[in-house]
Amino acid sequence: MTPQPVARVEEIPDGGSIRRVMDGRDIAIFRKGEEIFAIDARCPHRGGPLDNDLEQGYLTFCPWHGWSFDVRTGKSPDQPGRVFCYEVTVKDGTIHIGQGV
Ligand code: FES
Repeated sequence: MTPQPVARVEEIPDGGSIRRVMDGRDIAIFRKGEEIFAIDARCPHRGGPLDNDLEQGYLTFCPWHGWSFDVRTGKSPDQPGRVFCYEVTVKDGTIHIGQGV
């Protein structure tokens, strides 16, 4: 996926997230201070939303059944598997999302 501009940093509250659709994929974009992370916005369990506020540092909790994922790695601290992560770059305050990693 060619990196595409998706949002301005200031659109995301510190510790929060927004959701964007790119090339048909639902992506949750998180901000923690000056750091930006992007993961698939659908929980791999049963498709719950992962574009939530960050908790306990870098975790997003699915509200449907409570699975959590670290937005830096896409890994869950307590469940098998992971969610897809995307390459993020910020240029002049604009967030660009690229291919998955
Ligand atoms: S759908 Fe996310 S924990 Fe079940």
